Amino acid sequence: MALLTKAPRGTQDMLPADSGRWQYLEETARAVAKACGFREIRFPTFEHTELFARGVGDTTDVVQKEMYTFEDKSGRSITLRPEGTAGTVRAVIEHGLLGEALPLKVYYLPSCFRYEKPQAGRLREFHQFGCEMFGSKGPASDAEVIGLAAQLFEELGIGNLSLEINSIGCPECRAAYHKALREYFEARRDQLCETCLGRLEKNPMRILDCKNPECAQIAAGAPVVLDYLCQECAGHFEGLKACLAAMGLAYTVNPRIVRGLDYYTRTVFEFVSQNIGAQGTVCGGGRYDGLVKMLGGPDTPALGFAIGLERLLLVMDQCGAAFPEERGCDLYIGSMGEAAALQAFQLAEALRREGVYAEFDSMGRSVKAQMKYADKIGARYSMILGENELAEGTAQLKNMKTGAQTAIRLDDSAVGALSDTVFFEGYEITEEEH
Ligand code: HAM
Repeated sequence: MALLTKAPRGTQDMLPADSGRWQYLEETARAVAKACGFREIRFPTFEHTELFARGVGDTTDVVQKEMYTFEDKSGRSITLRPEGTAGTVRAVIEHGLLGEALPLKVYYLPSCFRYEKPQAGRLREFHQFGCEMFGSKGPASDAEVIGLAAQLFEELGIGNLSLEINSIGCPECRAAYHKALREYFEARRDQLCETCLGRLEKNPMRILDCKNPECAQIAAGAPVVLDYLCQECAGHFEGLKACLAAMGLAYTVNPRIVRGLDYYTRTVFEFVSQNIGAQGTVCGGGRYDGLVKMLGGPDTPALGFAIGLERLLLVMDQCGAAFPEERGCDLYIGSMGEAAALQAFQLAEALRREGVYAEFDSMGRSVKAQMKYADKIGARYSMILGENELAEGTAQLKNMKTGAQTAIRLDDSAVGALSDTVFFEGYEITEEEH
């Protein structure tokens, strides 16, 4: 029975009390993306397993250990998206978007699924804000995309994330690097986990982000890819650094960043917080110039990033970033007696059509209990209708904070008079803004 009333491990409900925070994050992310020319893309929650196996890479932890994969009723292998890049690339190829004006810039805000060990900042269902840009190959685009993430953090009042960058080169320089890695790990193979022994042959770079502590300890002393970059990749990395400097964005070069997904080429980067525990990477991204072609599309350079929204919220809370106050109830219309209750209902309905958050009693409560409820929902104004008010055709509108009262005529002018007061005056905003 407990299963019925307990959400699966690693998942979280978003409750009404928190929805304003989430909406604020999403709205801010959308606004920043839009200002940078990115438009929203939505793709399915599940895809053919093959897309992630090929796209993310079949030697990655994500594919080997963390995917929610199942057979559907007709025996197809289906996987819940562990991230957004593969689905985005599949969609832009399928719909021929790369044949249109380039660069193509898209963003997404989906939930993602990874079967990982839950801990602070690590869930099995989590949410990402991601941006992807297709078509441009120069380092200025890398800086543009990094700048977008930085702008969002700034917008949200987060100042304490550090930007770490690295280059993991192209397939050409990777060959020499793989050789050096193989030699290094081969000499220590008896200390590697089972999964990494398999990676040693197929993709030794994946050993570098194995979560097994022993493998991690050995990986810490491994050769770094920056020492193996070809001339073009080294030039690209220098170009990126120059652009970041020109933008005034502080960064550190961390040659140990390899990222946990196979599609990256050249630039990789992370924004990291020191204050939210072991899962401090709030944003991860980079270039993936070979992925579109590998998945069957035209040879198109591309890059992007994704920010984990749960981690972003942790960071915001940790650094005391402000969230906008939620709009509470504008007006509570209480009532005594059936006729007044009907009038309260009609008035509330009419005000709602004007955009006023008006509430009335739908529980048949006493006036005292109604007013208690009005307080609870943060009503800024209240008005009580009873026999006297109906007979006289006027009621008192009360400002709950100051106690000031204004007489309102209960005729055709009531909706206009009420909405003028409780909406406009209450928010001190101009009519144009409304
Ligand atoms: P990723 O590093 O796997 O990259 O994930 C990006 C972000 O998602 C992480 O930095 C973290 O904030 C969040 N995240 C990942 N796993 C979890 C989890 N189990 N629980 C909570 N948050 C998590 C990608 O997904 C790439 N697709 C990013 C990208 C886009 N690269 C290029 N374009």
